[in-house]
Amino acid sequence: MRLKVFGHAKLRGDFSVPGDKSISHRALLLGAVAEGETLVENCLVAEDVLSTARCLQGLGVRIEGVGTTSVKVHGVGGANFSAPTSHLDCGNSGTTMRLLMGLLAAHEFESWLTGDDSLQKRPMDRVAIPLQRMGAKIEGRTERFLPPIRMSGAKLRPIEWALPVASAQAKSAILLAGLFADGTTIVHEPAPSRDHTERMLQAFGAKVFVRGLTVTVVGPAKLRGTNLVVPNDPSSAAFFLCAAAAMTDAEVTALGISVNPTRTGYLEVLRRMGATVIVHNERTQAGEPVADVTVRGGKLSGVTIAGELVPRTIDELPVLAAIATVAEGTTIIKDAQELRVKESDRIAAMVNELRKLGAQVEELPDGMVIQGSSKLCGAEVESHGDHRIAMALTIAGLLAEGETIVNDANCVAISFPQFPQVLASLGAEVEMA
Ligand code: S3P
Repeated sequence: MRLKVFGHAKLRGDFSVPGDKSISHRALLLGAVAEGETLVENCLVAEDVLSTARCLQGLGVRIEGVGTTSVKVHGVGGANFSAPTSHLDCGNSGTTMRLLMGLLAAHEFESWLTGDDSLQKRPMDRVAIPLQRMGAKIEGRTERFLPPIRMSGAKLRPIEWALPVASAQAKSAILLAGLFADGTTIVHEPAPSRDHTERMLQAFGAKVFVRGLTVTVVGPAKLRGTNLVVPNDPSSAAFFLCAAAAMTDAEVTALGISVNPTRTGYLEVLRRMGATVIVHNERTQAGEPVADVTVRGGKLSGVTIAGELVPRTIDELPVLAAIATVAEGTTIIKDAQELRVKESDRIAAMVNELRKLGAQVEELPDGMVIQGSSKLCGAEVESHGDHRIAMALTIAGLLAEGETIVNDANCVAISFPQFPQVLASLGAEVEMA
């Protein structure tokens, strides 16, 4: 599928996006090892979360409603998965593979985890090394532990681990393994990353303590199944909120998105760039702060995004780069080398594709420098098979004169299959070809 978009619409209106991807994965995974039933409502129906559901089914977990927004997980009550009879296919999903490795570390049988071409290029060492230290046996290709991963678990020892990169996936894998270790597992982060695992573990009854950048989990833990309604995904909403920010006279409202501070770095960036951002109707859902968020567009200025802000904007950096091309002045993104090991090398992908639209962008080893005030001109661009690149380039196309075609855009189904429809509902001219 190709996405064809025409420039110079003004986005207007209220919209809803599907359930949060990170929270949906975690609800299925924690539900699977809890005692009793877990009902997950507003669960994301998209390829990545389906990968998690299928892997869990391959491990003997009974799940009803897979492929719908209302999913019931029948927990196996601890480290009681059955040995899989074939490879566990994590598809495109790093979260599935890394978090599942944490749970499998406590299972003595052998399992193989694999994924698509993109996932097979992504390093699992950040998870494999601490899990080995806890007692699991793990093999992968090269010293970076590229998938396929072969692993067998063990009776785990607790560890104290300082993460070299701020990664919620790595933190979560260690905490999930820590549930089954005898004693206290401690993880230190270099900067705050998304904390959904910590919040959800508490809702399932585990003893988890957070102090500054240190998280502690006490094992062995007994999780109790629970019911939760997943908040809408702020990373999906970001495409429209950022697009509106860059258009004078545009105004859009995202309904019911998570405003967890570990996820809303991009709203702070939009404010600093000069957009009006209003957070209203704040409430709590599934232990997460949720709100409606309105963004009103205007003349934007360039900003620097660096340091602790990077992990809190990590999935939104491609779309922020897209709108920075039309802001006044220079935008610098640095300390973001993690972008090179996402579903694609997101630094190289955005630099190359934004240039095709006429933007002036310089590549840095850990980010990019974007000269603003570009007059973008519609062109044919490539998604690199990466959902967030496809959607960020569609937004860049909205800011360009004429027609932009995003090739290989099927990948939006990884996190947000309804992306073209929601964009059209806000007034954009977009076609699937
Ligand atoms: C995620 C964590 C982030 C993020 C990814 C989802 C998660 O990755 O980029 O889209 O659900 O834990 P890292 O933990 O590798 O930073």
